[in-house]
Amino acid sequence: MAGTVVIKWGGGLITHKDKLCTINQNVIDALADVCKNSSKRLVIVHGAGSFGHMKAKEFRLAEGRVAGISQDEAVSEVRNDMLELNQKVVSSLQSRGLDVQSFPPHQWAKGTGPNFSGELPLHEGITVVFGDVVDDDSNDFGILSGDDIMFRYATEAPDVERAIFAIGGVDGILRVPPSKAGPDDLIEEWNPSMEFEGEHAAEIDVTGGIGLKATRGSMIASRGVDVILVNGEIPQRVADAIEGLPVVGTRIVPGNC
Ligand code: IPE
Repeated sequence: MAGTVVIKWGGGLITHKDKLCTINQNVIDALADVCKNSSKRLVIVHGAGSFGHMKAKEFRLAEGRVAGISQDEAVSEVRNDMLELNQKVVSSLQSRGLDVQSFPPHQWAKGTGPNFSGELPLHEGITVVFGDVVDDDSNDFGILSGDDIMFRYATEAPDVERAIFAIGGVDGILRVPPSKAGPDDLIEEWNPSMEFEGEHAAEIDVTGGIGLKATRGSMIASRGVDVILVNGEIPQRVADAIEGLPVVGTRIVPGNC
């Protein structure tokens, strides 16, 4: 049977990040084509982009219950927005004849960070999960990032061959912020002792931006799984990364500790 590849479709890749709830249908369709042509069993973890971060930020959902703010409506709105985005992803895959099942994390996961609880659901065909607002024992609720879900699938699902982070707008981890970068600034192999200046849009992002991907990627690599970060706007790179072929991007390796 084909090995499993766990792949993140970053929220900034599949949505227009700065415009509330707008999807990037072309990118989703191109990624679905890549899945259609893949020989692997896939687990897709997608991010939130403008379907999650903006409202979550406004209502401080990543902090859990905050006294004095009425957050319940925002919790259900963001969950619904994420379901809507998820539906677009699933429909695009299904319209290509793929056997897909989606498992919304707020229905099976509890707690945030890489040690969240809940049994990881797996489908015979393509499994789809996503960053979500989940229940949390100590804070009532919180934001579970798709990057944390990546870590768990990549290290716990059977026969995982590699983990891929497909991101928008950049070729990988760069030595300098993307707006200042030239072709030589791509870091081809990154480990946690290397510094880089990612552009983390803290004013938009409620999770960790590229820094969280790099950190979780390195945790995955330290368990012996290959990890690569690629530009998801170039479908051939995603296709090659899935098959384990050489590709432009950043290979993430474990740290020394
Ligand atoms: C965030 O998930 C989930 C919500 C804000 C509801 P991610 O951390 O996986 O999202 P992206 O990839 O940064 O958009």
